[in-house]
Amino acid sequence: MKEQKGINVLSLFDGMSCGQIALDKLGIKVDNYFASEIDKYAIKVTQANYPNTKQIGSVTEVKGEGLPEIDLLIGGSPCQDFSTLKFKREGLRGSKSKLFYEFLRLKNEINPKYWLLENVQMKKESKKQLDKHLGVTGILIDSNKFTAQNRKRYYWTNIPIAKIDDKNLLIDNVVDKKVDEKYYCKEHQVKHYENCKYVAEGNSIEVIDFYNKSIKYNKANCITPHAFRCDRSATNIIKVNNRLRKLTEKECERLQGVPRDYTNFVASGQRYKMIGNGWTVDIIKHIFKGLN
Ligand SMILES: C[S@@+](CC[C@H](N)C(=O)[O-])C[C@H]1O[C@@H](n2cnc3c(N)ncnc32)[C@H](O)[C@@H]1O
Repeated sequence: MKEQKGINVLSLFDGMSCGQIALDKLGIKVDNYFASEIDKYAIKVTQANYPNTKQIGSVTEVKGEGLPEIDLLIGGSPCQDFSTLKFKREGLRGSKSKLFYEFLRLKNEINPKYWLLENVQMKKESKKQLDKHLGVTGILIDSNKFTAQNRKRYYWTNIPIAKIDDKNLLIDNVVDKKVDEKYYCKEHQVKHYENCKYVAEGNSIEVIDFYNKSIKYNKANCITPHAFRCDRSATNIIKVNNRLRKLTEKECERLQGVPRDYTNFVASGQRYKMIGNGWTVDIIKHIFKGLN
């Protein structure tokens, strides 16, 4: 019997390859997965999990003509200049965010059957520019429909997206009962949180409301590359049995829908960083269900 033909994927800003995890979970056969990424730790994690990945270096060096026909182009271009977490935002002019134009260049060069771009919440003007360049309106999806994490991101795609049902997961479903002492805040760190508000106060797991969102149900704050911190720059601190601690690497993986210990090939700080930079796999999986 003739073997079924798989698809060719070009993933720009591939990070730790969350797109590939989503395809894998859906059982979509991939013939070639070309990954453009420059972070050696993210590359190490990708290659450890998906050794057949073809790493092709910086996006600025990628040329459409050297590649076979691409069925699916995906990417989440660096977002630091868009991010509403950053005080001064330069939008598309920023040195990082302008890499979006490389996505656009390659989309035009290779004309893929399907494509998907993800990015953070941004100023209205930047969003309008991206809509115009891509020819579709980006839609905002909150990871909290799929996992126990609040994470609003924009998705631009030509893949039809089916209706999203809320899975109603809470942080209590994700947090491990027993974790190593090293995850707990030290006494001098606890002081930083004396006057903080909590999300869902009185629940078995409380979450410090760093973003002042006053959300009523208990979900983790957006996982950022700073999730490893217990100091003033922390972004995710929870209170369990009246003690404050950061989330573990495993818990962050779970909140992003990443397989357990997927990132356990690099040091802890690098794991948190790439998980925070990564995609919520369950959202990508939901979108990829629309691939024909
Ligand atoms: C927001 S993250 C994307 C994460 C990815 N979607 C994932 O699943 O893990 C952006 C990524 O772009 C990468 N990057 C930055 N400059 C790049 C370049 N010139 N070429 C390729 N990748 C680059 C960063 O190292 C980072 O991993």
